[in-house]
Amino acid sequence: MKKPQSNFPHLQLKDGILKDQLYHAFREAILNGRLHPRMKIPSSRALSETMQISRNSVLQGFERLIDEGYLLTKPGSGTYVSDTIPDELIDIPHRSQERAQAFDSKLDINPQLIEMARLKAKGNTDHSHSMFNIGVGCVDLFPHQLWGRLLGRVWRQSRKTLGKSHPSAGYLPLREAISDYARSTRGLNCTPEQIIIVNGTQQAINLTAQVLLQQGDEVWLDEPGYDGALGAFLSQNMRVCPVSVDDEGTNIADAIQRYPAVKLAFTAPSHQFPLGGMLSLPRRLALLDWAAEHHKWILEDDYNGEFRYSARPIQALQGLDKHQRVIYAGTFSKMLLPELRLGFLVAPPKLVNAFQLAKHYADTHTAYLEQVTLALLITEGHYARHVRRVRKACHERQTALIAAIEQYLPDKLSVQTSDSGIHLVCWLKGDLTEEEVINKCRQLSLGAQPLSRYCQAPYPRQAILLGYAAHTPDDLRESIKKLALIL
Ligand SMILES: Cc1ncc(COP(=O)(O)O)c(C=O)c1O
Repeated sequence: MKKPQSNFPHLQLKDGILKDQLYHAFREAILNGRLHPRMKIPSSRALSETMQISRNSVLQGFERLIDEGYLLTKPGSGTYVSDTIPDELIDIPHRSQERAQAFDSKLDINPQLIEMARLKAKGNTDHSHSMFNIGVGCVDLFPHQLWGRLLGRVWRQSRKTLGKSHPSAGYLPLREAISDYARSTRGLNCTPEQIIIVNGTQQAINLTAQVLLQQGDEVWLDEPGYDGALGAFLSQNMRVCPVSVDDEGTNIADAIQRYPAVKLAFTAPSHQFPLGGMLSLPRRLALLDWAAEHHKWILEDDYNGEFRYSARPIQALQGLDKHQRVIYAGTFSKMLLPELRLGFLVAPPKLVNAFQLAKHYADTHTAYLEQVTLALLITEGHYARHVRRVRKACHERQTALIAAIEQYLPDKLSVQTSDSGIHLVCWLKGDLTEEEVINKCRQLSLGAQPLSRYCQAPYPRQAILLGYAAHTPDDLRESIKKLALIL
């Protein structure tokens, strides 16, 4: 059936049930300001004619919008956009800033979280804008059918295994499979006993803080750095010490000198987040020496270690560590899907019991059926094949995005090329500001992020980050073309 078109200003109906499409189209338009407060909405009859959908669908969509307070009816006059939409629903930055501050005055919550809310509010927060979203892998290449078949097999065979208690550290065959895989592909030095299956890197960070840190302890974090780590440390009342970064990754010598009292260094040596530098070998060795000599801990976030294109993936820091000071965090969020919430940490042998206990009291264990399914995916060789496919596609997508930016936006953006990762850093040229570019991106429903979102203090340069892994070369090119037109 031909998809109905809307003549009502800028409203596009997408796939789905018509009344729901209408509801979402209006809601989105109201929240992003395209339909402004007190604006009169055409009658249901007129809309049903111009949009070529049944009047009933229009009325049902309207009913929900009215119930939820987006529209209101004035007897004898018509239907209007409400002017009392709850502030927190409106997606404009200054409102988000106010929202972050509103936490403080109204609720007795951890003040550190307010700081986090302030930072988050700097970002492009509408998650429906998926184009250029950063932190997302090749989700379109996820082997849906295969995963479904394996999960089905696991489910059918699960009668005897469900209802029993399972180890907090995770399903042993999965820990064995990961240990083998990570030793051969990432150069890890580990046994299955050291592996704890977690719900992604985020949980690995939280558990590390619980196991090793106490309130007020100091932690290193790159500036700019990973907001997920900042949030986890702040919400557990750690003191986060910002460390400078350059092309070689974290500036280790500077950090050692400035923060001698830190207990834990958080670092992403294979791909600094978000700028992408790789920690050089001399810095890796300096970091490991410092940790061994002063009894410090290192949390290695290897979120992008497998996304390396022209060269061989480099060995993880954990594999170089002779003194058992590194806690390694790996994730399947990028190579498979973030929704699976599957990752693993490798604990130094002396910390294994403490991590298992922390995991037990956090959530008993990670979802069992998904663990068994992942074990099959790896042991049957599907995972390694998938990694090769993703790497190739990601490289093509990155190349297409760079070419499009160089063709359509040469005087606006300067791309920082990279041999790895799933997003690009684009420095802004001339007088262009992050705010200007992100506002334009919002108008086009593009989910690019400003670099400032990942900075605790003002940063000397302005940049936007463009995620590319989840989009085809054609889509990337088209979106850059549109951005170029509006800029
Ligand atoms: C720097 C960094 N580390 C780790 C992750 C993965 O987090 P998780 O495994 O909790 O999904 C992300 C996700 O965006 C990230 O950007």
